[in-house]
This record gives sequence, C-alpha cells and structure tokens, in this order.
Amino acid sequence: MIFTVAIDGPAAAGKGTISRAVAERFGFAHLDTGALYRAVGVKGGDPVAAARGLSAADLARDDLRSLEAGQAASRVAVIPEVRAALLAFQRDFARREGGAVLDGRDIGTVICPEAEVKLFVTASAEVRARRRWLELGGERAEKSLASVLAEVEERDRRDRDRSEAPLRPAADAILLDTGALTAKAAIEEAGRLVLVALRAAGHMRDGMAGD
Ligand code: CDP
Repeated sequence: MIFTVAIDGPAAAGKGTISRAVAERFGFAHLDTGALYRAVGVKGGDPVAAARGLSAADLARDDLRSLEAGQAASRVAVIPEVRAALLAFQRDFARREGGAVLDGRDIGTVICPEAEVKLFVTASAEVRARRRWLELGGERAEKSLASVLAEVEERDRRDRDRSEAPLRPAADAILLDTGALTAKAAIEEAGRLVLVALRAAGHMRDGMAGD
C-alpha cells in the first residue's frame, strides 16, 4: 500500500506530536523533515555540501531541537540547492511501501503533492511560543517567553517569505487549528481524517487499528 500523510505548518504548531501519534496508530513510517534542515544548519561549513553528504550521525545529534538549531535550519532552508539535495530522499520516503507520515513546511505542496491526506496545522504565534517555551523548561528555561515568541515569529517570517517552497497550505489541505484543542483532541481529529481517506482509497480492512 502506498499512502502518504503530509503534515505541514508553522513552528511549534503540534506537527511532531500529531505525526508521531498518527504513524503509530496506523503502523506508518514517520519522517520529521525539519530534522534534516536542522542537521544541515548546525553542521556548519558549506550548507549545500552538508545537505548532499548528510549522514545518520548528523541526524542523531542531541542538539537538533534547540532554538539555535531551529534558526540555523530556517537560514539554510532558503537555499534552493539545499532543498534540492534533500528532495529525492523525502519523495522516496513519502511513497515507500506500507504508508508514511511526513511533517514539515512543503510536504503537501512540493515533496508529495499527490499525498492522500494533507493537513495544515496552525495555532496563534502566542500559543505556539508558549508550547515551545514549556518544552524548553518553562520558568526554568534559559530563555524568556518573550524571546521564544520573537524567535518563533522571525522563523515563521523567513519560512513564509522565501521564494523556494514557502510555508503555505496546499490548495487541498485541511486546516487544523490546535489553539483550542488538547494534544489528545488534535491527535484524534487527525486520526479521524486519515481513517476517512484510508477508507476512500479502499485500504481499510476489518480489524485494522483504526476503529
Ligand atoms: O519543530 P518546528 O516546527 O519548530 O521546526 P522544524 O519542523 O524542525 O523545522 C525547522 C526549520 O526547518 C523550519 O523553520 C524551516 O525553515 C525548515 N524546514 C523546511 O524549510 N522545510 C521542511 N519541510 C521542514 C523544515
């Protein structure tokens, strides 16, 4: 079965949480495409060479989730040759046998326009910044909530304004605003939408994990 779930949206909208849960529920493989850009961003040196030579060790670094890595990622993500170097791997992953969930910025628009499910996950910048700040330790975090908000807004602006694969919903994406939803409710809604598409594509059999 070839079946792709594309989950795009701005920083800290909940894409990762939703993607991991959907992949687990339906037994699909999951690719966090942001990790590719983060790994290129933190590697240093020539970003195009870094993207062409990305290794498993680069993706296993434990500093990829830092705010600095996020900023570095969005700076290298504007370079067309960097995006081109990462394209084939993501496309192959999306159409692998057994189903795949990919989360990022351009999965539904560029990487896999033929995806069977496209979600665009959003929430206000304030809600997203608070989530990221709590993830970083909240009151114990080195950064204030205000500085996390400024970083999230700067990164979103860079991602939206770039000419190559800018952050925007595909015309046929379903918008999922997680601002007023618990993580559980957002996961349930995403799972429901995947189930509808699986049934429409004739892939659901009795006893599959969806019901
Ligand atoms: O987890 P969060 O939403 O904060 O970020 P991420 O998904 O790890 O992505 C980090 C950065 O990589 C983004 O701000 C984008 O600049 C870039 N990115 C991209 O350009 N295209 C993708 N498919 C995924 C990430």
